[in-house]
Amino acid sequence: MHIASLFPPPVIRTERVLLRQIEFKDLNALYEIFSDERVMEYWSSVPYTSIEQADQLISHIQTGYEEESFLQLGIEHIESKRLVGTATLHAIQQQCSRAELGYALHPAFWGQGLMHEALTALIRYAFDQANLLRIEADIEPNNTASAKALVRLGFEKEGYFPSRWVVNGVVSDSEMYGLVNANFKL
Ligand SMILES: CC(C)(COP(=O)(O)OP(=O)(O)OC[C@H]1O[C@@H](n2cnc3c(N)ncnc32)[C@H](O)[C@@H]1OP(=O)(O)O)[C@@H](O)C(=O)NCCC(=O)NCCS
Repeated sequence: MHIASLFPPPVIRTERVLLRQIEFKDLNALYEIFSDERVMEYWSSVPYTSIEQADQLISHIQTGYEEESFLQLGIEHIESKRLVGTATLHAIQQQCSRAELGYALHPAFWGQGLMHEALTALIRYAFDQANLLRIEADIEPNNTASAKALVRLGFEKEGYFPSRWVVNGVVSDSEMYGLVNANFKL
């Protein structure tokens, strides 16, 4: 079992979103997302305060593609042609065919099921095309929107890790979720 077919990055189209490679033209859109306090409330780092951080993120993402180490795709809202979020498979473990899922959506687009649509497509791709056996997610226990999104996809809460993160001097716990193909809800 080998998951190298996650790369090159796929282009995945659903009814309302296009999952696609992130490029330098996405700089301002990415900055808007990752500098927003609502998006970063439960994130593993503080909100961006300069556009250079978004620039570095793009470089980091592109290195991830080149080295086949992590896959962060842009979520483009087809109707507005706007980059509204990202969906990521990281901590890719080739030998065990597993990865961790991450996601962020601009708050103007919350509550419409767009992330559900994007993650459904990415997970389908990961299980069917890239042969992943398992996908994991690590969330802050108060992040109810994220927990709901995971449960809706079929993830199960599998564990609780106290004092797992320190962000800006604040210690927080993690709830760990996992999904295997058989439990995936289309
Ligand atoms: C986590 C996050 C992506 C969830 O966004 P979201 O818009 O609530 O997620 P979804 O796309 O799954 O949408 C679900 C909501 O849309 C509604 N919805 C409307 N149409 C829908 C459809 N066709 N399909 C599914 N849901 C639909 C659902 O009822 C649900 O609303 P509810 O939460 O009030 O029940 C968003 O809150 C976010 O970006 N948070 C900040 C970043 C973050 O914390 N990421 C996770 C870190 S691990």
